[in-house]
Order: sequence, then C-alpha cells, then structure tokens
Amino acid sequence: DWTMSAYRDEAIAAIREQVGDQKVICGLSGGVDSSVAAVLIHEAIGDQLTCVFVDHGLLRKGEAEEVVTMFRDNYNMPLIHAEEQELFLGQLDGVSDPETKRKIIGKLFIDVFQKHAKDVGDATFLAQGTLYPDVIESVSFSGGPSVTIKSHHNVGGLPEKMGLKLVEPLRELFKDEVRELGRELGLPPSFIGRHPFPGPGLAIRCPGEITREKLDILREADAVYIDQIRKHGLYDDIWQAFVAILPVRTVGVMGDGRTYDFACALRAVTSVDGMTADYYPFTHEFLGETATRIINEIPGINRVTYDITSKPPGTIEWE
Ligand code: XMP
Repeated sequence: DWTMSAYRDEAIAAIREQVGDQKVICGLSGGVDSSVAAVLIHEAIGDQLTCVFVDHGLLRKGEAEEVVTMFRDNYNMPLIHAEEQELFLGQLDGVSDPETKRKIIGKLFIDVFQKHAKDVGDATFLAQGTLYPDVIESVSFSGGPSVTIKSHHNVGGLPEKMGLKLVEPLRELFKDEVRELGRELGLPPSFIGRHPFPGPGLAIRCPGEITREKLDILREADAVYIDQIRKHGLYDDIWQAFVAILPVRTVGVMGDGRTYDFACALRAVTSVDGMTADYYPFTHEFLGETATRIINEIPGINRVTYDITSKPPGTIEWE
C-alpha cells in the first residue's frame, strides 16, 4: 500500500544515509522539481543544505524576486542569489545553434555551482531535481533507438573534476508524483501548480541569436499571455504555456504607420509527463483577444501565431 507520505519518509531516510554530515548545494531554478527537491532535502538535513539560485538573465518576468522571497524569507533556507546575467548572456552572444546554447548554459551552471560550492565551504554533494522522464529521454525516445533528442542540462555529465557527488531524490518520480510530494511537504498550491520551466530558460524560446532586446520583449509578451490564460481560468488545464519570439521581423500596420517588428508564437500543450503532448485547443476568440493584447501592449511585436504542433513530431520547447 504505497503512499506519498511513506515515500517522503523513505526519501528523507535515504538522503540522510547518503549525505551523512556532509554539506549539499542545490541548484534552485524556481521550477516545481528543484523546489520540491530542495524542500525535501532541507527537511532531511536542515542547514547542511545551501541552495544556489542562478539568475542567468533568461528568467521570466518577476521570477527571481518570487523565488528568492519564497525560499529565503518563507522557508528560511540558506540561499545564494547568484546574479550571473552578464556571464551567461556574454557567452551566448552570437550563438544560434540550439545544442551549442544548451551546452554553454550547462557548462556555465556547473562553473557557477563550483564557485559557490567553495563559498559554502567544502560542499561534497550537488542536489538536482531530475525526474524519471529526464533520465529516460536523454537516453532513448519512445522506446526507439538510443538517440539524444536534446541535452537536458540537468542530467548527467557532471565533470569528475567538479568533485561533487549527485543527490537526485526525484529520479524515480513522474511530474504528477512530484506535485503530490510537494503538497505532502506543504509547498503552496500556487507554487506546485506552476507550469514546468526548463533550466536553459528563455534561451530555448528564442530561436536564433539571443539578444537583450528579444529577451525583454519575450518576457513582456509571455506575461501577457499567461495573464490571459489565468483570466480565462485555463492555467490548470494546461501542462505548459509560453511565448517563443521568432528570429524574423515582419511588416505590419498600426494607426497610420508601417511597423517592422518581431513575430512571436504562442505555445500551449496538454501532457501527462512531458514525453508526449497535444496542442491546447483554445477558442478562436481567446486566440484573437490574446493576439490583440500582445500587439497593443508590447512594443516590438506586430504579429502573433499559434503553434499547433503536437509531440511527437514537435517537441514542447522550440529548441
Ligand atoms: P521538450 O521540449 O523536450 O520538453 O519536449 C519536455 C519537457 O522538458 C522541459 N525541458 C527541460 N527541463 N532542463 C529542464 O529542466 C532542460 O534542459 C529542458 N529542456 C526541456 C520542457 O520545458 C518540457 O516540460
């Protein structure tokens, strides 16, 4: 008779057993997975855990403040807020290949952790909120041949030289189970219900070269889109929704002027575990209203499209 509360107790015992009296650092992304991992580990070993929240300049609007407030102020967890926007955006400058972006971001995350592991003073473990589908998908795809679809930046390949061992207490869980565990641990429902957000953040929602201008536009457009979804009461029916800014400007007309601005794509899917997904069947009315709001409210975008690709053959993210 398997219950989440029993799982929680077992996981806590396993973490204590693995870690002993050593120190752990945990990369906190603000997503549900790393948040649940952090709270679980904090419950197991208290202040032996220090979280590192890396602001890589690829976060959504208001995200850094929300996460830091929640963990530092509400949970009283030791938390390092690493402001590394210049580092990440500098290294990504001029890069447009998706896998190269992911590799750069993954490597910099490790560099930043390594730096802070020193600050924490001899941390020997790195905790990650890796889920079962992450483990599977980086190895094979839908039971097919063993090929890497995308290098998820939070899986595997930790360089030996980093000298940190991994703690991955969610490695056997699917997303819905992680949410259940989060509820069991008392995380606020609004936090648990948040859509997944990938480690590489807005970088993989900005196909082509990443510029600060595009990121700023993307953040604003995404906030309007999510606001629309919440206002229509659809947030909880959707697995994930976001805007991707396209690497193309198109001609439009506004008032009596010609515009030449970016096009964007709205994405929304339903899914059980992220491995397969269907596009969300918004009404035309919703889509029309949302497009109008984005174009009127966000300077820099003059065209909105809706992505109706399911997974497979598409992936959820654009890169
Ligand atoms: P795709 O785009 O592969 O995404 O269909 C499946 C799910 O995984 C998320 N995703 C990531 N999560 N690190 C993460 O933590 C990553 O590098 C990464 N890439 C994709 C994606 O948002 C979706 O929920």
